[in-house]
Amino acid sequence: MFITFEGGEGSGKTTAIKRIIAELESRGYEVILTREPGGTPIGEQIRNVILDKANTAMDPRTEALLYAASRRQHLVEKILPAIKEGKVVLCDRYLDSSLAYQGGARNLGIEEILNVNLYATEGFEPDITFLFDIEPELGLARIAANAGREVNRLDVEKLEFHHKVRESFHKVAAMFPKRFRIIDASKGPDEVFNAAFQEIEKVLNK
Ligand code: TYD
Repeated sequence: MFITFEGGEGSGKTTAIKRIIAELESRGYEVILTREPGGTPIGEQIRNVILDKANTAMDPRTEALLYAASRRQHLVEKILPAIKEGKVVLCDRYLDSSLAYQGGARNLGIEEILNVNLYATEGFEPDITFLFDIEPELGLARIAANAGREVNRLDVEKLEFHHKVRESFHKVAAMFPKRFRIIDASKGPDEVFNAAFQEIEKVLNK
């Protein structure tokens, strides 16, 4: 089983993932948690190129292709082998992050980025994709509160971008209604966990 977690910043994804792992393990499932570039040496090298601050000349399409390349390597080297071994694979962000961030928020086009990613993944899709949906204002306030600070001017400037990300995630979810589950991430940790785990149980019990 392959489950991916998507959403904006401050959506509580990480907290929910930890509880889901604990619950699955207590029921005897072997679980791995991964995220791109997944600790694969080739993926790490690609990621370093994306994150290198010296690469100011990086074209947005180059960045999108590098994300897809890193994803390809992660899928082949880590995700597929684990699924083959019967493990439940949880992945913190996957191709839908590229669709929402590069395709939507960075204006490269969701369809275009989907095509690049379908090439990278050969169409291999998650069984469930959770969208942890939250108002960007609330997500950013949570992050600031965790860091023990006020929401600053930079955070506010970023708001418009985060609204675009959120809107794009909704478009993507509507494109793939079978695998997407939208979770109201403004709720408390218990409610969020219960809502997500219920969906996992439905698929496990099939
Ligand atoms: P990070 O702070 O590591 O993650 P998170 O918000 O999940 O805790 O940031 C990952 C950033 O990379 C996030 O802003 C989304 C972005 N991203 C893309 O733009 N495209 C992608 O394909 C992926 C996987 C991530």
